[in-house]
Amino acid sequence: MNSFRALTTLFLAGVCVLAAAPALATAEGRCGDPAERPWCKPSLSPDRRADLLLGQMTDSEKVSLLGGDELTGVLGGQGTHTGTMDGVPRLGIPRIYLSDGPAGVRSGQATALPSPIALGATFDRHAARQDAAVIADEVIRKGNDIVFAPTVDIVRTPLAGRVFEALGGEDPFLSTSLAVPWIKSAEGKGLIATVKHYLGNNQEGTGPKANEAMPGNPAISIGTFATVGKRGEIDARIDQRTMREMYLPMFEAAVKQAGVEAVMCAYNKVNGPWACENKTLLENILRKQWGFKGMTIADYGATHDTGASLRNGLDIEPWPGVDYGTAAITAALAGGSASMADVDRHVQRYLRTLFASGAMDREAFPADEDSIDRGGNAAKPAAIAEKGIVLLKNRRGILPLNRGKLDSIAVIGPVADRYFTGGGSSEIDPFQTTTALAGITKQAGSGVDVGFNDGADPAQAAQLAGDSDVAVVVVGSWSSEGIDRACLSLECPSFLGDQDALIREVAAANRNTVVVIESGGPILTPWRNQVGAILEAWYPGSNGGTAIGRILFGKADASGRLPVTFPRKESDIPTYGEPSAYPGVDDVVKYKEGVFVGYRRYDRRKIKPAYEFGRGLSYAKFRFSKLKLKRHGPKLAVKARVSNVGKRAGVAVPQLYLGLPSTNVKQPPRALKGFARISLKRGKGRQVKFTVDKRGLSFWNAGKNRWQVAKGCYRVYVGASSRKLPLRGKFGIGRKCR
Ligand code: BGC
Repeated sequence: MNSFRALTTLFLAGVCVLAAAPALATAEGRCGDPAERPWCKPSLSPDRRADLLLGQMTDSEKVSLLGGDELTGVLGGQGTHTGTMDGVPRLGIPRIYLSDGPAGVRSGQATALPSPIALGATFDRHAARQDAAVIADEVIRKGNDIVFAPTVDIVRTPLAGRVFEALGGEDPFLSTSLAVPWIKSAEGKGLIATVKHYLGNNQEGTGPKANEAMPGNPAISIGTFATVGKRGEIDARIDQRTMREMYLPMFEAAVKQAGVEAVMCAYNKVNGPWACENKTLLENILRKQWGFKGMTIADYGATHDTGASLRNGLDIEPWPGVDYGTAAITAALAGGSASMADVDRHVQRYLRTLFASGAMDREAFPADEDSIDRGGNAAKPAAIAEKGIVLLKNRRGILPLNRGKLDSIAVIGPVADRYFTGGGSSEIDPFQTTTALAGITKQAGSGVDVGFNDGADPAQAAQLAGDSDVAVVVVGSWSSEGIDRACLSLECPSFLGDQDALIREVAAANRNTVVVIESGGPILTPWRNQVGAILEAWYPGSNGGTAIGRILFGKADASGRLPVTFPRKESDIPTYGEPSAYPGVDDVVKYKEGVFVGYRRYDRRKIKPAYEFGRGLSYAKFRFSKLKLKRHGPKLAVKARVSNVGKRAGVAVPQLYLGLPSTNVKQPPRALKGFARISLKRGKGRQVKFTVDKRGLSFWNAGKNRWQVAKGCYRVYVGASSRKLPLRGKFGIGRKCR
């Protein structure tokens, strides 16, 4: 967003305080009687219906349809919608309501799901379906037709403000594997899902004030804290191969496998043109190459030029509805920068999407907050959070805690007794919360004394720790849309004080110190050798404390796996020390690292991370054996056996990685191509099967502009993480493997 737009937004934010009653969903009639309105016949194809309806519209009705009609709902007030699109009642085109987002509904209170990266850490397609089902249920019960989710941006730098929103962390296969069931689940409920942000929105921007950012300041999410490399000003320069292999696969799968109905274009430019006026992205790749038939939606304030967007593939601008407002479109038509045929095309796609999604053939979803099953829905985020909590370290089995052997626990830290989450458009105001302190207290039961200290005075906290059997330090790392983190340590941003020092003091006072991290993504863990155990709980949602308590006390196995690499030091971050790669120079961000993003880069450079991609300990112990490989035509079948050789039941997440042969095109040493999540009782084993399709064996040949199966020797790895790969095999394509 440029500063003028930011100011406009600020102004609008001010206006909202004075604004009259917010727009409420009303049950308007939908399509109508097919006898009078032939386009209302459900037996006709969505395209045919849209064409028929388009044919009945006047030019001014068409022009009025493409821009949003409501300004203040974006602020998230109770009873509002993130956006509304007025219809044409004369023809039965309904008013359509739009809602954020990826962690729950952002209008009034809602159930806060764990942040999407926590869902990523579950490595569980079923959890993705459940997550979407809860969000869709509340989006619908608040009267909306469209949900702005999921977010499938790849974690290119762990400093990025929206890492917590990135469903699959740094890996396109993981992201795709979870985004597809998420979308199917949400659309299966009758919603239109919106996969975002297309494309290259992998940073928010930084600036001298980045470290002062803190929750509750609306100036952050609209970008006034970011001055360098701002999302609304940069040009993401991404080469074709990198785009195809790392940043496009989620969108492609959303279209081809999930049948997503909407795609949100991003704030930034991509290789020149703004994402929302980018013909290569919006028309050539999305529609011509992938066959997308739904609609493209501009991110909020991401449009720049009415004519350019109309010509190049943007269908609707939901907010602020200025560039696609009646006045701007009329002016663009009069000035010749767009034609009525352009308008027709976008209206047709909008209508087609409404028909295809079933939105025209049902009544409006009534906005009925009271019908939300708050209690029932509350249990679900806790169950998802539980699956996504990652046990990074467990010295001599200090966890799980055994309440029969404990007299006292010190719970310490600034976020232990509060609901903590990231900022921006996926920040949810929860119906109710369970904090870590509450969750731990519940599990500790009556026989264990639970003391609390917020850590503001580390000496006092250390004293409590020293007087207790176990110390649990719950630390927070806040991140937000609108601003990247100034550094990767717990001190960025700074408002929670020196939590690294707090951990060190507590650990010095009690060797049974467990650190629970509530963060949006990777942080530095310089104290990791001083503490007994570390749990990464992400932003765990409404009832995250329940999940934290259950994992600490072993009510459930620790079963999350890292969807992102935790570096040992900041200078190991792939873009470190390369301003032209991040945050960009003169608003140009060069994706110089190419496909070597995240663990692909650590592996290639042989850099040891603190905690590697895919890592997550279990309270059980697993052994991998019996690797079998078989080629079926263009596909590869991989089988392996996983056995629980530990002392209790647990959840294994076997992972398959492939190393493609490096020719003149350099390949990452390994990339994730399969995973499973299986519960195994003590002493039990099971065979897991993975199938890698032709695409999984291919790389993007930039010279030929197509996917190509590499010829040569492929390396196959199966194991517990990207660095714990006990099973190894190889096979050749077009060439023998030596
Ligand atoms: C975000 C989108 C979001 C929209 C509406 C934008 O700032 O980038 O992800 O859906 O706001 O809240």
